[in-house]
Amino acid sequence: MNSSDWEKELEKVAREISAENFSAILSAEDLERLRIRFLGRKGSLTELLRSIKDLSIEERKLLAPKAQKIKSQLESQIAARIEEIEKLRFEKDINSQSLDLTLPPLSPLRGRFHPLTQMQNQMAHILGLMGFSWAEGPLIEDDEHNFTALNIPEHHSARDMLDTFYVEGSKVMRTHTSPVQIRAMRQKKPPFRIISPGRVFRHEAIDATHSAVFHQVEGLYVDKNVSFADLKGTLEEFLKALFGPEIKVRFRPSYFPFTEPSAEVDLSCLFCSGTGVGKDRHPCGICKKTGFIEILGAGMVHPNVFKAVGYDPEIWSGFAFGIGVERIAMLKWQIKDIRDFYQNDVRFLSQFKDAELPLFA
Ligand code: DAH
Repeated sequence: MNSSDWEKELEKVAREISAENFSAILSAEDLERLRIRFLGRKGSLTELLRSIKDLSIEERKLLAPKAQKIKSQLESQIAARIEEIEKLRFEKDINSQSLDLTLPPLSPLRGRFHPLTQMQNQMAHILGLMGFSWAEGPLIEDDEHNFTALNIPEHHSARDMLDTFYVEGSKVMRTHTSPVQIRAMRQKKPPFRIISPGRVFRHEAIDATHSAVFHQVEGLYVDKNVSFADLKGTLEEFLKALFGPEIKVRFRPSYFPFTEPSAEVDLSCLFCSGTGVGKDRHPCGICKKTGFIEILGAGMVHPNVFKAVGYDPEIWSGFAFGIGVERIAMLKWQIKDIRDFYQNDVRFLSQFKDAELPLFA
């Protein structure tokens, strides 16, 4: 082919292309057929472009850009039509379906905090407003922090109360969050207030109210002239913020090696509103007819604990408390089996909407 034949051939192909009525092509398949006719491996434009090598360099320089322009115009026409065809198909689909616009939209599944984390954060929030800051300690503790410095010497019978998981050497899985008291006092200078939420471990048979792994929130306040009245006021205020102003709080004398005096704190039973009689008029099985449920241990920091951390007990005083997070959560949400917290059953977990954090009334 000489160059003028080649050029005529190109014009012919160009005319064929412009004779195509793109807007009449309604399916992607028809459009593909057209593309193959011109641009496929044996398409007319492809073959013409391939034969350009038979022309001289000068002729090629002149004609190649023309051919390229026709090719790229065709390509963009095809691309534009594909888009239109897609749009048409989408509109047709929509119009052929009957849409019920009154249906509520599908809301995306949202994750949320585990109920125990929610409860822990709520507790930390309230105590935070009361000036307590967050402190943490390791889950694997040494004997000294978990026991000795807390006035629980070796062979002391109080160690039997705490069924301990022993790790190698003198390490234990911490049986309570109280060792964080020791760490905080050694790190800080009084006065200060800390809470320490976290996991604790007990070698215990698991049932509806016991778990070998559970959570506590420890509290510690050290200052001059801290009194038992400060402890009472703080805990009462805290519990009322958590459970509502109508609850009753009761302090009973108790024993902990690291506090003196020590108390166990009871909350009026939320299941029977402190009456001891359930809604079914039967004796309340939750508080065993007493109207109260034990929820935490507390007391004034023992002088021996202060001595263990190098504080002079003649100068410094303080109170401490330890609260079981599961226990509080079970009471608050009326959950009967502690194991529900650990099964990760979404049907259970999804009932706990991230609660608004309570403020003081
Ligand atoms: N550590 C105690 C326990 O696990 C709870 C406790 C009681 C903590 C009295 C305290 C406290 O800080 O003063 O049973």
